[in-house]
Amino acid sequence: MALHPINRALSYGEPLLFMLVALYRFKGFFLVLFDIATLKVSPSELLSYDAISDRVFGKMWLRISEMETVVPALVGSASGTVLEIGPGSGNQLARYNKSNVTTIFGIEPNRHLHDELRANVAKFGLQDIYRIVPFGIEEVQRMKSFGVEEGSIDTVLSVQVLCGVPDPEQVCKRMYRLLRPGGTMIVYEHVEAKDWLSRKVQGVYQIAWPWLMGGCSLVRPTADYLLSAGKWETVDLTSSAKEDPWLVIPRVSGKLIKAKS
Ligand SMILES: C[S@@+](CC[C@H](N)C(=O)[O-])C[C@H]1O[C@@H](n2cnc3c(N)ncnc32)[C@H](O)[C@@H]1O
Repeated sequence: MALHPINRALSYGEPLLFMLVALYRFKGFFLVLFDIATLKVSPSELLSYDAISDRVFGKMWLRISEMETVVPALVGSASGTVLEIGPGSGNQLARYNKSNVTTIFGIEPNRHLHDELRANVAKFGLQDIYRIVPFGIEEVQRMKSFGVEEGSIDTVLSVQVLCGVPDPEQVCKRMYRLLRPGGTMIVYEHVEAKDWLSRKVQGVYQIAWPWLMGGCSLVRPTADYLLSAGKWETVDLTSSAKEDPWLVIPRVSGKLIKAKS
């Protein structure tokens, strides 16, 4: 495939654009300073890097989430009991097909996004079927108290989350175990680049990217983690890097159906 230099240069500028917007919108940092000055942050939270980082990301995400790529067809195909990992402020809520969904568990550990998420749940008329689970997907025991058990979920949905979770390989295995046999994993994730120069560019961006983008990584082989999470009956994943190998933020999207036995 011919790599048109203009396309390549445009692709290599994409993370920079995101980071500039994040910086421009980085009022979150100042809003958190204001929270500290007005004693809204408890002393224990003040001493925790993770707690402060969550607070900053929560405030920033509320301001940039409208930029997220839409994935309406994938989200619209979710059915039954759905577990959405990392719903954030609820960008995907409008895209659910309500007649096909019975329950949605929104696994969202960042409590600074919960008010907005709750408001969006009500806005889209999902309050009777939506439950916010206020901790990370790795909290197996605590999730059980919400009725989230292994083999109990019809659809797991992950939209731009696996780039930011700690230990994504384990998280993919965990999501696999939560699915019932025959259940569907729906994903839309950005992943490591295919071509070597694009990988180098990713490596340079990666120095600052996690700091500005709430711990997100540009360089994860997420498709490999999903494929090796367990036995799949069907794998229907599309990689934008197949068409455009120079992309510096390539996406993997589609569905994997868990084997019945
Ligand atoms: C980039 S945002 C994506 C939000 C949303 N999926 C969307 O499409 O707009 C990533 C989200 O994953 C959440 N997250 C981070 N670690 C998580 C974990 N261990 N378990 C579940 N969600 C997590 C973050 O709090 C954040 O809301």
